[in-house]
Amino acid sequence: MSAGLLRNSLKGAASAAPFFPTLLDQMPNAIVVFEANNLHLVYVNAAAESALDLSRKSLEGQSVQDLFGSNPFLSNMIEEIKAGHFSAERQEMVLHSLPGSIHQESIPAHVVVASLEDPSLIMMEWFPIDQQLRSERDERVTQQVEANKQLMRNLAHEIKNPLGGIRGAAQLLEFELPDKGLREYTQVIIKESDRLQDLVDRLLAPHRKAHAMELFNVHEALERVRSLVLAEFPKGLKIIRSYDTSLPEILGDREQLIQAILNIAHNAAQALADEISAGVAQIEFKTRVARSVTISKHRYKMAMDLHVIDNGPGIPEDIRERIFFPLVSGREGGSGLGLTLAQTFVQQHQGFIACDSSPGRTDFHIQIPYRKQEKPL
Ligand SMILES: Nc1ncnc2c1ncn2[C@@H]1O[C@H](COP(=O)(O)OP(=O)(O)OP(=O)(O)O)[C@@H](O)[C@H]1O
Ligand SMILES: [Mg+2]
Repeated sequence: MSAGLLRNSLKGAASAAPFFPTLLDQMPNAIVVFEANNLHLVYVNAAAESALDLSRKSLEGQSVQDLFGSNPFLSNMIEEIKAGHFSAERQEMVLHSLPGSIHQESIPAHVVVASLEDPSLIMMEWFPIDQQLRSERDERVTQQVEANKQLMRNLAHEIKNPLGGIRGAAQLLEFELPDKGLREYTQVIIKESDRLQDLVDRLLAPHRKAHAMELFNVHEALERVRSLVLAEFPKGLKIIRSYDTSLPEILGDREQLIQAILNIAHNAAQALADEISAGVAQIEFKTRVARSVTISKHRYKMAMDLHVIDNGPGIPEDIRERIFFPLVSGREGGSGLGLTLAQTFVQQHQGFIACDSSPGRTDFHIQIPYRKQEKPL
């Protein structure tokens, strides 16, 4: 079929005219075709109609942004296709379909954006990632991280026990030293023991802490984090608030959650060094309500959705898959515990934490379910 003919037939399809591309309509995956310049839909297949729960007629003339809001992952894919860098791009992402409408839904989906023979048209295909598959994968990662943390804790205990002895012996030795010049060596033992002690304490810390449960406003917590980060990075960094102020109060350990968000925001600010010097560094705090979410096989009617998004260089590729593991750091002088702690705290609230990162955009996503108040943490 020539490009012109395809275009005509697609346009025809949009208005249910005779040139109906029946083949696409029989596909189980949702497919839309839109104009590259203004992103207006020219074709919607039957699966897309049913996925969006809207008729072809009412979808006509709408744009991709009308359907999915401003979705930077999707926009990036479309830009790549427009620029001709790739003929097809695929990515897993959460599609927030029909923002602002009563049909609004968040669908974790596998999305393909592809160029067509006619360069003025772009095709987008998506299918929901099977909820089961996703929760199994989350479960596997959680178990892996948990096993790792357990190992670390056991190891930390083993290190902690003899440390006191080593330090004490070095102090005694120091008193007995005939040559005071040799103190330099005992001091190395004492200082390094102290450093290890500090590390071990931090590895063991989150599991000792008692939970102080209270109802609190997450935006107040975010404002605290915001002022702490801005106090440390007063110039060149903008922290944008995109709050859904209708969010109900959350029941949890306020200080723990502040610490978790602070660790994430602090990492973002540290990663933004170049952007801060250039005066273009941005961190966005975004809160939304998420409905009917599954976290670790449990289904919740409602959850708090929080994103901390920065425009920094992204997480180094070699550690991207392991950032929540203890002692994994991509930073000079970093101890690699900030995100482990954040994850522990979020999980202690039955929540979920994940990260999507590529150069120019890193998005930490936290979901904390709203549970019945009487249920203890
Ligand atoms: N927003 C981000 N942008 C780029 N890299 C990041 C970002 N957040 C985390 N990282 C990477 O993930 C690593 C792990 O972070 P984590 O907070 O666990 O440890 P750390 O910052 O190295 O040490 P600390 O224990 O002091 O927090 C960081 O060292 C950094 O390389
Ligand atoms: Mg950190």
